[in-house]
Amino acid sequence: MRIPEGVVIAPSVLAADYARLADHVREAEEAGARWFQLDVMDGRFVPNLAAGLPVARALRASTEAFLDAHLMVHEPGRFLGPFADAGADLITIHQEASLHLHRDLTEIRRLGCRAGVALNPSTPAETIGEVLHLVDLVLVMTVNPGFGGQKFIRPVLPKLGRIQELVAERGLAPTRLQVDGGVDLETAPLAVEAGADVLIAGSSVFRGTGTVAENFHALQSAAAIRL
Ligand code: DX5
Repeated sequence: MRIPEGVVIAPSVLAADYARLADHVREAEEAGARWFQLDVMDGRFVPNLAAGLPVARALRASTEAFLDAHLMVHEPGRFLGPFADAGADLITIHQEASLHLHRDLTEIRRLGCRAGVALNPSTPAETIGEVLHLVDLVLVMTVNPGFGGQKFIRPVLPKLGRIQELVAERGLAPTRLQVDGGVDLETAPLAVEAGADVLIAGSSVFRGTGTVAENFHALQSAAAIRL
């Protein structure tokens, strides 16, 4: 499936009501959401557990939208095939979690999925220089992974520009730049201004002050301000 173009607000279902996941996803889709992220956590790479393959399959069955599996798991190479089979359009793995990042990213593409690599706040952009030609997307974490509802770490933002420089230095086509964690009405425009074009938002969509649709539209407007 083609990656949705332009600046995209992509709801993270981590913050959704899992007792009525399909309803929450439908509400976001009716509001215009074209991309959803499923946070997968193993309790080892991050100090939390969340979603697995049954939820991935249920999510796939509930939407035609672009589905992004964010694997916050140790040695993600073990789970690439199962998440591709579960219907992920894009699989993102952490630079810090993969013992063989080049091999794992190559395998994601061999499986027919788009490939993403994620960087924790303390991980320099330079650590992925040798695999930028293998990815469709770089996820710049704006919180320490493991939990929704955290505060956006603003000093991470210059990393987006550094990644753009590394991509340009290698003569590669621009990669999609995704931020994840603490994205809200205040931080969304900052992220776009710094170079992000995919904004993952969980709490601010599913646990905001308005309805899911109102929250989603408010974020879209906030992100579009500085375009
Ligand atoms: C952290 C998770 C969160 C989630 C979005 O491991 O990846 O960043 O997707 O969280 P909030 O609620 O901050 O949008």
